[in-house]
Amino acid sequence: MSTVEIRNLHKSFGKLEVLKGIDFSVETGQVVCVIGPSGSGKSTLLRCVNLLEQPTSGQVFVDGIELTHPDVDIDAARRRLGMVFQQFNLFAHLTVLRNVTIAQERVLKRPRAEAVRIARENLEKVGLSEKAESYPAQLSGGQQQRVAIARALAMNPSLMLFDEPTSALDPELVGDVLQVMRRLAEDGMTMLVVTHEMGFAREVADRVVFMDQGVIVEDGPPAQVIAAPQHNRTREFLHRVLHPGD
Ligand SMILES: Nc1ncnc2c1ncn2[C@@H]1O[C@H](COP(=O)(O)OP(=O)(O)OP(=O)(O)O)[C@@H](O)[C@H]1O
Ligand SMILES: [Mg+2]
Repeated sequence: MSTVEIRNLHKSFGKLEVLKGIDFSVETGQVVCVIGPSGSGKSTLLRCVNLLEQPTSGQVFVDGIELTHPDVDIDAARRRLGMVFQQFNLFAHLTVLRNVTIAQERVLKRPRAEAVRIARENLEKVGLSEKAESYPAQLSGGQQQRVAIARALAMNPSLMLFDEPTSALDPELVGDVLQVMRRLAEDGMTMLVVTHEMGFAREVADRVVFMDQGVIVEDGPPAQVIAAPQHNRTREFLHRVLHPGD
């Protein structure tokens, strides 16, 4: 069964066609990593999946519900999706705990005590139980990103979308965030991850999608797309990522 299905998705900004007919799906419980050069449309693809951008044409289904249908309850549909961005977007004036409870209470209408219980469970999952009463500015970037992951998980999403979650982090903080994501994958979370972390993609992804200039060039298991790419464009990209400075 697919959690996400994308059919012939197109997106233009004015005259610039950024997505030129994207088709793929993410099966329930699977991890799909999207790789590709800067400007190839990876973020736009993710933003179309959660309708932060309105696709020009095509269809997006999540849990069998068509998000692109004109009659869909977009707020309800979007609640199925957890999103983690490069920038963590935490509320600076709220504690870590409050950052993780606020949407549960306001959007899901959970009573405070339940929201706090679920927040603490998820903070434990990302290894930050001791930071519940801290403010974001008192945390490292990697810790803030893990709070953002806990905040998304607390909403019980069917799917987690990650857009380069580690690329704003100092190198020594990347590992902890990837470890949390790895554990999520092992726990069976369905994940769509834009990343430049080839080690993560190779070890954790069920499938790797290589995008270039608004199309999917290759889509397959990491052993194929990363280890034995079929297309020149994929080979050149991987060479640049794996051997920067060559
Ligand atoms: N809101 C927008 N308005 C106009 N053009 C946009 C908008 N968002 C993205 N674009 C353009 O769409 C193209 C794809 O951008 P996108 O951010 O999806 O690329 P990306 O693959 O995520 O790149 P990166 O690896 O640098 O994050 C770029 O040419 C970008 O300038
Ligand atoms: Mg991007």
